[in-house]
Amino acid sequence: MSLIIRGGTVVNADRQFRADVYCADGVIKAVGENLDVPAGAQVVDAGGQYVMPGGIDPHTHMQLPFMGTVASEDFYSGTAAAMAGGTTTIIDFVIPAPKQRLMDAYRQWREWAEKSASDYSFHVAITWWDQSVHDDMGTLVREEGVNSFKHFMAYKGAIMADDEIMYQSFRRALTLGAMPTVHAENGELVFQLQRKLLAECITGPEGHPLSRPPAAEGEAANRAIRFAEVIGVPLYIVHVSCKDALDEIIRARNAGLRVYGEVLPGHLLVDDRVYRNPDFTFAAAHVMSPPFRAKSHQEALWQGLQAGHLQTTATDHCCFCAEQKAAGCDDFSKIPNGCGGVEDRMAVLWTHGVNTGRLTPEEFVAITSANAARIFNLYPRKGSISVGADADIVVWDPNASKTISAKTHRQQVDFNIFEGMQVRGLPSHTISQGKLTWVQGELRAERGAGRYLKRPAYTSAFAALEKIAAARTPTAVARRPG
Ligand code: URP
Ligand code: ZN
Ligand code: ZN
Repeated sequence: MSLIIRGGTVVNADRQFRADVYCADGVIKAVGENLDVPAGAQVVDAGGQYVMPGGIDPHTHMQLPFMGTVASEDFYSGTAAAMAGGTTTIIDFVIPAPKQRLMDAYRQWREWAEKSASDYSFHVAITWWDQSVHDDMGTLVREEGVNSFKHFMAYKGAIMADDEIMYQSFRRALTLGAMPTVHAENGELVFQLQRKLLAECITGPEGHPLSRPPAAEGEAANRAIRFAEVIGVPLYIVHVSCKDALDEIIRARNAGLRVYGEVLPGHLLVDDRVYRNPDFTFAAAHVMSPPFRAKSHQEALWQGLQAGHLQTTATDHCCFCAEQKAAGCDDFSKIPNGCGGVEDRMAVLWTHGVNTGRLTPEEFVAITSANAARIFNLYPRKGSISVGADADIVVWDPNASKTISAKTHRQQVDFNIFEGMQVRGLPSHTISQGKLTWVQGELRAERGAGRYLKRPAYTSAFAALEKIAAARTPTAVARRPG
């Protein structure tokens, strides 16, 4: 099975150039002008189009059991929808219930994900702590290729990681060469504000952003960064939604800390007026955490992305239909948190990033695939059009356009936060493992074709950081000879 993409402009994170791309046996075999290829190779005409690495969405929640229900999008429907939008890899989350063995949860998620159409990998959440969690982190890194562990600093009484859990887990991650990641919101503050608002009879979705102010995110981002600084481990902050958290990341990076930030198209483009819409179904459909913010935060996030302070884009794809969201009709704190977007991320970012001049095509590749591949150690197998890389490719037509709508999207959810948005720049073809999975509007995703991706631990970056942290601590100073 071989395929040649002819006549396009290849775009990687570092440069663009005219070349054909020849794929066989699921990998890229040759990149160059006027390639001679064996007879019988399937031909994709990419004239006038860009040929880019398939998107990597490093933050999704397919079929997540959460807040008393289960996310409506499963691993097959979600990865198929992703490929309709040019994304060929997802990194989802194993989220053990408190007291559940990490390995048991991990096996459960692996089983659920067998139906994936695209390749996938997992971060594992640390929701509690004991010796078994310590041991299972080791097994996951050394045997299962998990190199990142997530900490929800919010969702008190459910999956929240308190300071002690973060301390233990960050230290363990450091010794294993794994990346700690955080959902940065102060869970105690959110919990108390929810109680206060409900006591004041503010029960509708307008209470959601009021209970989760930017300061609660800024505080948690700073706390996680300080833990990482003292322990000497890198840190990745998911779904940065506001200037308060971004400013903490900029300060940390300027101080030489290896801190990374992720931003969602929703936080770049949707603002908090949606929560004041009197239609409960509409407002509740936007309930996600952190919430959409006041417009003033959006320009700061765009600048953070352009400046390289934020390195990745994701969707936090976590879909709930109207009947599921209705669980919170009398109490906003019970509305299942989450919105979709895995199908729309690339087109929305191209439209509002590249077409506006904020991003170059190369920067688009960096923030939609290459940077995530580098940070989570999938590079250059993913995130690069180069010989030996997986043949996960999107052929991108910069002139194709459509209007986003829940009526026509492939995502298994009855709402779209980008409803009515005109996008220009769409995938004409998506290729996964060398096979066409999206051809000019026809979805050819194959249930179960996706492979689990192991991501090896890092060592060198960690050793350097450990040295810096040790040099900063008083004990290290005391121990210095002389
Ligand atoms: O509201 C959200 N984001 N739901 C999914 C879980 C999380 O916080 O990432
Ligand atoms: Zn989160
Ligand atoms: Zn999430």
